[in-house]
Amino acid sequence: MRRCHKAKSTPACVKMVNDMHAEFWIDKWQKAEIGFHLEDYHPMLTRHWRTLGVGAGARVFVPLCGKSLDMIFLLRQGCQVIGNELSPIAIQQFFADQNLQVTSTTVSGITVYEAAGIRLIQGDFFQLDRQTLGSFEAVYDRASLIAMPPDLQHHYAEHLLALAPVAAPILLITLDYDPAEMNGPPFATPADQVTRLFGASFHIKMLERIDALADNPALQRRGLTALSETAWHLRPRDRASNHMGMIW
Ligand SMILES: C[S@@+](CC[C@H](N)C(=O)[O-])C[C@H]1O[C@@H](n2cnc3c(N)ncnc32)[C@H](O)[C@@H]1O
Repeated sequence: MRRCHKAKSTPACVKMVNDMHAEFWIDKWQKAEIGFHLEDYHPMLTRHWRTLGVGAGARVFVPLCGKSLDMIFLLRQGCQVIGNELSPIAIQQFFADQNLQVTSTTVSGITVYEAAGIRLIQGDFFQLDRQTLGSFEAVYDRASLIAMPPDLQHHYAEHLLALAPVAAPILLITLDYDPAEMNGPPFATPADQVTRLFGASFHIKMLERIDALADNPALQRRGLTALSETAWHLRPRDRASNHMGMIW
């Protein structure tokens, strides 16, 4: 994926990076190049979801959801799922694969697909507002933050925070590797980046880190010789206070 070489924080640069990023993903879905998609629940989700203490009936926001089966896992925990995804192909495949009866409505260019317990909003994450999204009690992010180039990751985190109710915890799953070995996506997202992005608003707890190289032959073929995968529990701080970020 190309990078913007202008000053990173200018709105024009952010828009350019986001437009390139959107084009890239729309194209990936059109060509069915979706090596990130798993044919089962993510094992870190099944191992750690209960850590968040989210009760049955809670609404869970799944940004950049693709057609992830993890949404089915969350439904089976009794949660209601609100997903967001750029590609209509991903959303339509999700409902078709799951044999779910779906209705859709389009208002001001945003299409919302609904089935029992699940609402998927098709459109650009950065265009979402709280009114469209509604309220939710927790966030599940696997391969969403790390799908963003570093130039966009802090905008992603800022926007997620703007959308999220103050008490919503996040289960975040990241990958890390030596960026000299491969260009993203997925983008290497080390612990200090997680702290930079979320440390002011959340207590950050590393739940598990595994060697993920053997499970990712496609990334080995792209040049990786080492790869770790980490699950993080982001527990909201009192947002009225202003502590510096730190890892528990
Ligand atoms: C690496 S995939 C991960 C999908 C899903 N979380 C999973 O675990 O399978 C990233 C997804 O984000 C979507 N995406 C990328 N940029 C987006 C944006 N700005 N708004 C909404 N979705 C976006 C892509 O179409 C793609 O399906």
